[in-house]
Amino acid sequence: MRILVTGGCGFIGSNFILNQLKSSSNSILNIDKLTYAGNINNLKNAEDNKNYQFIKADICDSKKINDIVFDYRPKRIVHFAAESHVDRSIDAPMEFIMTNIVGTVKLLEVSYNYWSLNTKTNFKFIHISTDEVYGSLGSHGLFDEETRYNPQSPYSSSKASSDHFVRAWNSTYNLPINITNCSNNYGPYQFPEKLIPLIVINCLDEKTLPIYGNGKNIRDWIFVDDHCEAINMVMENGIVGATYNIGSNNELTNIEIVYEICNILDIKKPRNNGEKYSSLIRYVEDRPGHDFRYAINPKKINNLGWKPRYSFKSGLIKTIDWYLENENWLREIQDKNYNQERLGLKNV
Ligand code: NAD
Ligand code: DAU
Repeated sequence: MRILVTGGCGFIGSNFILNQLKSSSNSILNIDKLTYAGNINNLKNAEDNKNYQFIKADICDSKKINDIVFDYRPKRIVHFAAESHVDRSIDAPMEFIMTNIVGTVKLLEVSYNYWSLNTKTNFKFIHISTDEVYGSLGSHGLFDEETRYNPQSPYSSSKASSDHFVRAWNSTYNLPINITNCSNNYGPYQFPEKLIPLIVINCLDEKTLPIYGNGKNIRDWIFVDDHCEAINMVMENGIVGATYNIGSNNELTNIEIVYEICNILDIKKPRNNGEKYSSLIRYVEDRPGHDFRYAINPKKINNLGWKPRYSFKSGLIKTIDWYLENENWLREIQDKNYNQERLGLKNV
């Protein structure tokens, strides 16, 4: 099967492509604009694979994307490309509107033209979205597919908007689609602006470990391979038009996670001065509009036949081992475009 992936040089997209090439005979065409978050090196191991191609392209460039899609004739489009970091959406929301909303709508237009003129059979547009569209939970309750949208940040608002457009293309034009709304991912190749890799690299650099607010905000964590397998399941067996929430029942406070990383690193890479990494923890000014809690009810995707394979502990150890073995990957990013500075406080 030919699959066109957008945003395949980012964190989840590159894991998805590497997993597909390893576990299936599907062919992949990856289109990515290579923003600060896109890293061509993530797919180094795929470069010589005859089932893999890459084209640098912006999803907002309709003409180019149209030519690519009509030429490649995919059975699936799996749409990861997005601006993905909440803090950056506070500093510069317009990029999020351009890629996440306008880019998605342009891609839907191209997909509709292609589907209606060419295939009308066995084609699906899989839109990869987030649990943040549902807003923030209190200490009880879970997000299911019926939960009312209530996004709070510029990032989650842009993703919510894109979800509505994807659904509109299904209900108005019958374009076959699925939407997945997943919880917080962690694993190899995650850009170190996000909590888990940021804490790892700051430990390695002996920098302070910034905890927003009181550290008691809760996220529901999923290892990236489990997310990729769930997307594969939806891509193959998802009912046309349906939305699936994806999560693996791993609710943790931010401070619990940071201590867990510190404890693992204390054993794997003890500090030269004999102190514990946790002595680097600092409570800092909170993220504006910081959502308190996310938690997924995964019943629907479980009923489709997907279950996670990783516990939080096993996934976290695998992730930390990967960063320790691939420190160069982090250092290159540090040299080129991100040096662990605080983001998301501008104009507040
Ligand atoms: P990421 O920021 O690591 O990667 C995004 C990729 O998209 C990059 O390679 C970037 O170059 C590319 N891109 C950005 N704008 C583009 C454009 N205009 N045209 C083409 N390519 C463009 O993001 P990620 O964490 O891998 O997230 C991927 C998708 O999954 C996003 O849609 C995100 O909303 C969603 N998601 C992420 C998480 C998470 O925890 N990371 C959870 C749920 C859903
Ligand atoms: O829930 C899914 C979402 O998870 C995805 O849609 C987003 O693309 C992804 O970035 C992620 O969003 P979060 O805002 O939850 O992730 P982040 O890693 O930025 O922050 C996780 C939590 O840690 C959050 O409560 C804020 C906190 N945090 C984050 C950073 C970067 C800190 O306390 N200190 C930090 O330095």
